Amino acid sequence: MSIQISHRAKAINPSPTLTVSSLAKKMQADGIDVINFGVGEPDFNTPDYIKESAKKAIDDNFTRYTASAGILELREAISTKFKKDNNLNYNPEDILVSPGAKAAIVFILMAVCDPRDEVLIPCPYWVSYTSQVELVDAFPVLLHTNMSCNFKINAQQLEETMLSLSSPKALILNSPNNPTGTVYDKKELEEIAEVCLKHNILIISDEIYERLIYDGAQHVSIASISDEIFKITIVINGISKAYAMTGWRLGYAAGPTEIIRRASRIQSHITSCVNSITQKAAVTALLENDGSIEMMRKTFEKRRNYLVNELNQIPHIECIMPKGAFYAMPNISYYLNNSQIKNSVDLCQYLLKDYHIAIVPGSAFGVDNYVRFSYANSIDNIKEGVKRFADGLRSLVSIP
Ligand SMILES: Cc1ncc(COP(=O)(O)O)c(C=O)c1O
Repeated sequence: MSIQISHRAKAINPSPTLTVSSLAKKMQADGIDVINFGVGEPDFNTPDYIKESAKKAIDDNFTRYTASAGILELREAISTKFKKDNNLNYNPEDILVSPGAKAAIVFILMAVCDPRDEVLIPCPYWVSYTSQVELVDAFPVLLHTNMSCNFKINAQQLEETMLSLSSPKALILNSPNNPTGTVYDKKELEEIAEVCLKHNILIISDEIYERLIYDGAQHVSIASISDEIFKITIVINGISKAYAMTGWRLGYAAGPTEIIRRASRIQSHITSCVNSITQKAAVTALLENDGSIEMMRKTFEKRRNYLVNELNQIPHIECIMPKGAFYAMPNISYYLNNSQIKNSVDLCQYLLKDYHIAIVPGSAFGVDNYVRFSYANSIDNIKEGVKRFADGLRSLVSIP
């Protein structure tokens, strides 16, 4: 082929979580009984009361382009949600509705980043952040964490890293976290926010797992810490995870009016607006409640308890109890150090091919000595899957 691919396209790798998932699906289609722990979406159906409102939107012919930033009714519903759940005051013009939180993050980055700006990302990180930053020609700067600090960055680490940068623009914080399940408390957020304020960098706070939080923990939005912090924060959220609506494609960003206005202008040239029917369904999701959201949360909590307890029974596997989201991240160092398999990708391929379980290699999240399990799966599947995981590991190092 004589047409050259752009440097931007060459820098972008396929999403590793989707790659594992599609390989597992292909094996399943070939009749192989694969247990899929790779998926990043609830295994529940969208609740009926939400589906009904979408059917009504179609019958009412609500099927045309809408305002690019989203219909006013929805932005008002989001504003109500922020007030009720997070004690945050956003006007509709401070809110951008995008086709997924994923897209909202990219439009915000496009609105604030210039080439070679630096964007700080705690590691392990959600797979898309680094690619999204590279897509806008900015540099991802990783803030490394590990199990001993509960996968949390701290203010001192942030301050030290900041001093070494030439053009820091933003920090992407994700709590509850994918892939670790870590949840930051108010004090930790206050300390981090203070450093961001001192260095005048934007906080992009991805709170998409806000509702999936366990052990009675409370979600705190970093934007609610003070008026000053509110002014330097963009909150990202969406309906995919809490309402089991991943395929409907709707997320949102809220923050300083000027940034939102610019991001909205960018969105208007790329996607026009979010699907009109989905927008109506999102109004219902945010304003009504039939108890199914809490039912899903409780079910996830039971599965989490079961999965993490079982993982910790496996010799030389250590896994901290995640406080939120629907992922667990066991440390697999012992098996990489004591077998012929030397990295998480090879381990996951071996487990998929020989033991028919799909899990995501830690290297996808920037940490090679871990793997990620999604517990958006039935207890029966979790039980059988952990057994296969244990069998696969045992035969690697010949533990009887
Ligand atoms: C941390 C995080 N942010 C954002 C998203 C994207 O959500 P959406 O479906 O709204 O694009 C995901 C999806 O996996 C995620 O894990």
